[in-house]
Amino acid sequence: MKKLMFLALLTGLAAAVAGCDRDPMSEKGFRLPDGDPVAGREAFLYMQCNQCHTIRGEELPRVPLADPPFVELGGPVTKVKTYGELVTSIINPSHKLASGYAEEVVSVDGESKMYVYNDYMTVQELIDIVMFLQPHYDVVVPEFHYRVYP
Ligand code: HEC
Repeated sequence: MKKLMFLALLTGLAAAVAGCDRDPMSEKGFRLPDGDPVAGREAFLYMQCNQCHTIRGEELPRVPLADPPFVELGGPVTKVKTYGELVTSIINPSHKLASGYAEEVVSVDGESKMYVYNDYMTVQELIDIVMFLQPHYDVVVPEFHYRVYP
C-alpha cells in the first residue's frame, strides 16, 4: 500500500514538473545565433544608446545635450549576465529594472525611462548589440570577510 502511495506521489510530481514546461510564455528553447560584437558596437552608437549608458571598460563618445540617467552597462556582477537577460532588457526594458539604481532615477510609474526600439532595431542589430555587451560583464564571487574571534 505504501509503495502504491509513493508511486502515486511520484507520478504527481513528474506531472507537476512536466506541467511547468507547458507554459506558452516560457523562454525555454530560446537561443540567439552568434553575432558580431564589432557591428554591435557600431549599432550601439548608431542608436545612441550612449545617450544614457556608459559601458565599463569602453571609451564611448558623449552625445551632446544628453540628459542622463547614466546607467553603466557591464562591470562586476555576482552571476552571469545571460543573452536572455540582455535581450529582455533591450526589447522589454520595464520587465525588470536594472538593480542598484533608485527607482525614480530610472523609471516613471514603474516604466523604464529607456526608449523602446522594437519598431526601429533589426533583429541582427539586437543580436550584435547583445554579443558586444555580454563580455563586458565580469562574474565576481563576493568576498566574505570572516572575523576571527580570539
Ligand atoms: C533615454 C535613456 C536610455 C537610452 C537611450 C537607452 N537606455 Fe538602456 N536603460 C536606460 C535606463 C534608465 C535603464 C535602467 C532601467 C531598466 O533596467 O530599464 C536602462 C537599462 C538597460 C539595460 C539593463 C541594464 C542592467 O544592468 O540591467 C540594458 C542592457 C540597456 N539598457 C541597453 C540599452 C541599449 C542597447 C540601448 C540602445 C539601443 C539603450 N539601452 C538605450 C535608459 C536608456
